[in-house]
Amino acid sequence: MEFDTKTPPYLTSDKSSFAYVSARDRWPVIITQAIDDLYRSVSECEEPEKQNEGKKIIEELARLKYELQHDRQLTPIRDDGAADVAIYNRELEQLGTPSWFNVPWLFSECYLYRRLNTSFSLSKHWKTYDVFYRQKIKTFRSSRPAVIELAARYKDLVTQIKNDGNSTSAEHDEAEKILFLEMCEICLWGNATDLSLLTSLTYEDIQKLQGSEARKAAEKNILVNDLGATYDVLKKAKSEGKKERRVDIVLDNAGFELYVDLILAGFLLSSGLATLVVLHPKSIPWFVSDVLPADFAALLNALVNPKQFYETPSDDEKLQDKIPSALSDKDAAELGFLFQEWSQMYAEGQLILRPNRFWTYPGSYWRLPSVEKSLYEDLKSSEVVIFKGDLNYRKLTGDAAWDPSTPFTEAIGPLGPGSGVNVLALRTCKADVVVGLKPGQDEELLATEGGGGDSGARKWAWSGKWAVVSFSEGK
Ligand code: F6P
Ligand code: MG
Repeated sequence: MEFDTKTPPYLTSDKSSFAYVSARDRWPVIITQAIDDLYRSVSECEEPEKQNEGKKIIEELARLKYELQHDRQLTPIRDDGAADVAIYNRELEQLGTPSWFNVPWLFSECYLYRRLNTSFSLSKHWKTYDVFYRQKIKTFRSSRPAVIELAARYKDLVTQIKNDGNSTSAEHDEAEKILFLEMCEICLWGNATDLSLLTSLTYEDIQKLQGSEARKAAEKNILVNDLGATYDVLKKAKSEGKKERRVDIVLDNAGFELYVDLILAGFLLSSGLATLVVLHPKSIPWFVSDVLPADFAALLNALVNPKQFYETPSDDEKLQDKIPSALSDKDAAELGFLFQEWSQMYAEGQLILRPNRFWTYPGSYWRLPSVEKSLYEDLKSSEVVIFKGDLNYRKLTGDAAWDPSTPFTEAIGPLGPGSGVNVLALRTCKADVVVGLKPGQDEELLATEGGGGDSGARKWAWSGKWAVVSFSEGK
């Protein structure tokens, strides 16, 4: 595409990249999990017409898996009436209708989820069915210890902020900055737990990643940390008394990550570092765990009656005769406090959900200013646009094989300096692309145990253990 970076993209044919590992090992598992989920819903379904249609979708998903595993050509996306069909198919044609193991990674992975989606969108009874919903809610429920720990922390914090009033002392400012850094770090590491990686991580691994001790220990794993500069931008807008101070969050995953995103959003609003937070969810089931508007509603529903959410046995628990432990009154009250706060912010229009189909297009964000002008203009009104997670980072940088010491501001091309958009990426590394490192830093990481050595594979960057927090001042 004319607006893309000229640096070559990662390809599924490159055996040393995570693109190849993803296509070969992870995608078939993800499709199989989708089939299992649908199979379960079809068996529970009592309407014969709906059941038959569900069976047809299962066959389509099985065919998709077959085509992937047998390296068949990618077929055009069937027309389900959405405007992006032409975008996907035009690009497919420009790529010369490639096969699964010889195609840009970013395009093919987006195509995979869009293609899955057509099986549902073209149906009569399963149009809005989210084949990943069960996994998302199950993982959120299993992150109970960290959810409770953070709820208590959040309540303390908001109560302190409220008692502190409008103090402008130096200590107040210092405390505000420290809290901002802490909230952003919580929000960052919440991204280490996305479900598409669950094919290699256990629930126990995920729980370990979520606690506060784990977070402190992981601070040294943030390779680039521009949070100080980001805070200065927000602080300046606040001190200047700017009336509307908006922060946008381009969301990534539902469940625990959305929960920590809301912790950050709530903190920004309570502290006055923002007066409005705009959340950008996806519009179709995406990369397994990404947030759909319904996931936002499901999270608030869980918090409105936390005892019911945590104490009602799940289907798996019923099968194993397990009874979940009771939630204490104190824990329930703290979760209830979150519900009060967030639902009030939502009701008062300080917290807004704003979906846009652009987020599930196949291309990188290099295309944003030319392809989706109104969204681009809208983002310019924000003090800071926070892009969460790995996929957003891949899209910002064009998922291209940059030299890792390339400045972030250069790698994001048209969204860099002069774009009018202040961009902050909060990303735990789960793919090959990385920029903004110091010269020699990549080599040091490659030399660590399991880091990839001289195999040509940047393995250290695949596991979610390391992170980059990069800021580009665009105004
Ligand atoms: O690396 C695994 C992977 O599924 C990538 O394909 C994708 O970029 C990413 O994880 C999704 O992670 P996130 O939810 O952080 O965007
Ligand atoms: Mg995701």
